[in-house]
Amino acid sequence: MPKFDYLVIGSGVAGLTYALKVAKRFPDKTLAMVTKSHETESNTKYAQGGMAVVLDKVSDSYQQHIQDTLVAGDGLCDEEVVRFVVNEAPDRLKELIDWGTKFDKGKQGKYDLGKEGGHSAHRIVHHKDITGFEIQRALLEQVHECPNVSVFAHHFAVDLITEHHLDVELVDKSRTCFGAYVLDEKTKKIETYKAKITMLASGGIGHVYQNTTNPQIATGDGIAMAYRAQAHVKHMEFVQFHPTALYESERKGQNFLISEAVRGFGALLRDKKGEPFMQKYDDREELASRDIVSRAIDFEMKKSGDEYVYLDCRHLDLVAFEKHFPNILNKCKSIGIDLSKDMIPVVPAAHYVCGGVEVNIHGQSRVKNLFVCGETSCTGLHGANRLASNSLLEALVYAHRSYLKSVEIFDQIDDNPPEPPAWSEKGTMHPKELILITHNRKEVQAIMSNYVGIIRSTERLNRASKRLKLIIEETEVLYKKTKISPQLSELRNLITVANLIIQQSLNRDENKGGFYRTD
Ligand code: FAD
Ligand code: SIN
Repeated sequence: MPKFDYLVIGSGVAGLTYALKVAKRFPDKTLAMVTKSHETESNTKYAQGGMAVVLDKVSDSYQQHIQDTLVAGDGLCDEEVVRFVVNEAPDRLKELIDWGTKFDKGKQGKYDLGKEGGHSAHRIVHHKDITGFEIQRALLEQVHECPNVSVFAHHFAVDLITEHHLDVELVDKSRTCFGAYVLDEKTKKIETYKAKITMLASGGIGHVYQNTTNPQIATGDGIAMAYRAQAHVKHMEFVQFHPTALYESERKGQNFLISEAVRGFGALLRDKKGEPFMQKYDDREELASRDIVSRAIDFEMKKSGDEYVYLDCRHLDLVAFEKHFPNILNKCKSIGIDLSKDMIPVVPAAHYVCGGVEVNIHGQSRVKNLFVCGETSCTGLHGANRLASNSLLEALVYAHRSYLKSVEIFDQIDDNPPEPPAWSEKGTMHPKELILITHNRKEVQAIMSNYVGIIRSTERLNRASKRLKLIIEETEVLYKKTKISPQLSELRNLITVANLIIQQSLNRDENKGGFYRTD
């Protein structure tokens, strides 16, 4: 039974930053990082636009960044959180740079600042259009240099261990986390990873939907696990749809993103006849916040019956474009789109979940010794709609705050907690075929895309709820008699997350930010 001081679930920006800070501060403490795919596979790896941070105090200010975040969040942000996240951004950026992350600079040697929807100033630091990849590269390099961190790739966290596995009485009604059950995908064994402190940093939920910018790992495992452990999960109705994912008739699991920074660079949206339309929806036109742009595109597509709209870059300086967006340019080239002549077909796609596991300003959930950070958490920063490029920033700020708090509480945690039992597979068998799981996963995605998308209604939500109920029943039966596999576990987690989105959508009776119900 592996025993560690700290267990980190997830190797994106949130998990890596937290692990690195703890490991450097305490070389004598042991830290396990489990991650369900290759160590680089994460939403972080695909982040394009960059990270919002106020650097130019002449044309920008902290107050402006705070105001833009509050406006995007549409009255549901926690203002205290917004203030400290914005104010702490330069310190977190400096750390990233000290750890070796490279951000692009302009002619005078100052950081080149991009602009995205909802921002009133240029304030996005970036590494070309592969900022997340660069941040993760630097963080992983640093983590690999820490001898006290063991990274377990292809290790799938199945469940958090709390009193309900231990058969012990709850003290003062609140649960405590003692680590996690983790499936080693090579040996197919589920092992008990005991830890004094667990950091859940397992990312987003994109694959609840058919079209998503997220990689395959984004199946809401952390949110579902925390929900089962009785953490509080909130604001799940606020799923953010990115306005401009590349439309490809044959797509493999993930829609390639055309960064919002491309619109910040001057690209224009047009309908299939080539007519601009954003002026009908918002004075800021292409640079309105992404909920407004996504709804506008959805509306235009429904009106015309078209499957996509266009993003027009033909008028832009394509030499400068190539310098800032080489990844996007290459992708377009690879599928025969010449940006000097052709427009890019784009559709909105599920991109980010603003809700998640509720945490306090130190990253603590209501389950003791369980910290949650990054996209899995709900800190109060985003409210009803995340401002572009505030996510990497939030993960860095909360990884730091979680690290400070977990250092403070570590010595107060019981050294000899109750012994969790080994994972029991009694009464379960290997599945005869995995196709039932695949079918149910596709069905969940279809239900969510058809009835719980950008525009919702009570009728559609009720229909989704009814359809999902049957899949929940079938999957629970399967779960009880089948040996756990990542596929089965992901399906169960996707269903939990889908259900949370539907029920929390039904409970919200006013339109806010990214949430829009016709009735
Ligand atoms: P992730 O980076 O997703 O990492 C989660 C980790 O958890 C992964 O390693 C995963 O394998 C692991 N994991 C998941 N489940 C399990 C399990 N059951 N067991 C073990 N491991 C598990 N934000 C910005 O601020 N700026 C941008 O420019 C930007 N661009 C984006 C572009 C794209 C295409 C996408 C998809 C997102 C973008 N975002 C951007 C959002 C941002 O990238 C993410 O919100 C952020 O990177 C999330 O970091 P994270 O560490 O919380 O999760
Ligand atoms: C993008 O580059 O458009 C994504 C930015 C974000 O999601 O914050």
